[in-house]
Amino acid sequence: MRKQIAAANWKMNLTLPEATKLLNELLENAEALADAQEVVLAVPFPYLMLVKERLKGMKGYRVAAQNCHHKLAGAYTGEVSASILASLGIEDCVLGHSERREYQQETDAELSQKVDRCLEVGIRPIFCCGEPLSVRESGAQDEFVAAQIRAGLFHLSPEAITGLVIAYEPIWAIGTGKTASSEQAQEMHASIRKVLADQYGSSVANEIPILYGGSVKGANAAELFANPDVDGGLVGGASLQANEFRQIMRALK
Ligand code: PGA
Repeated sequence: MRKQIAAANWKMNLTLPEATKLLNELLENAEALADAQEVVLAVPFPYLMLVKERLKGMKGYRVAAQNCHHKLAGAYTGEVSASILASLGIEDCVLGHSERREYQQETDAELSQKVDRCLEVGIRPIFCCGEPLSVRESGAQDEFVAAQIRAGLFHLSPEAITGLVIAYEPIWAIGTGKTASSEQAQEMHASIRKVLADQYGSSVANEIPILYGGSVKGANAAELFANPDVDGGLVGGASLQANEFRQIMRALK
């Protein structure tokens, strides 16, 4: 079975006392995970080691960075490289979130290099894609997302691409309270899997977890995750509340 993943994206939220409180609430009597299930906490850089320490010995629980630089080292003040993350034992890194594509002008070309840097040092990329509202309204969302996937990932070998997680996050659903319907999520996830299958074959495509993101909450997670091609979620707002996120974790297949 493909991995089923509940990923929390804390974004630029929570002070240290707030983060500590949330971790205490999440990890006290923590949900036990089945073999194919994972919980990933994507936290601000300064909290990576703290969270890593707290997750020690907890099966299936992992910590992720929210970004890394596209070079492995050098004179890039204020940046963090994949090799630094790997040296800390960080296992996952979110790449290409729409907020970074928009506010940091991250391009597909740069993202394809970030994917390479992560894979070179053994970090699993959680590669984000998703269309803006205007594209959804014009009906061109499948092609838009396919183009992001081709540009960011199709330079990879079949072995390399199976080391990835993809997160589909329609921009119009992020932080808006407007979730894609269960049908819209399944349709897009099936379309992404077909794009992968056409390039790499269906056995490779079937190995890659595809998460849905955009206003996932405790109340809608089970319905979204029940779809055959939806392998969990990347969760922003609701991941900041322990009860909500625990409900999302319990909704994993
Ligand atoms: P949201 O954010 O759950 O607050 O919509 C999701 C994300 O941006 O990863």
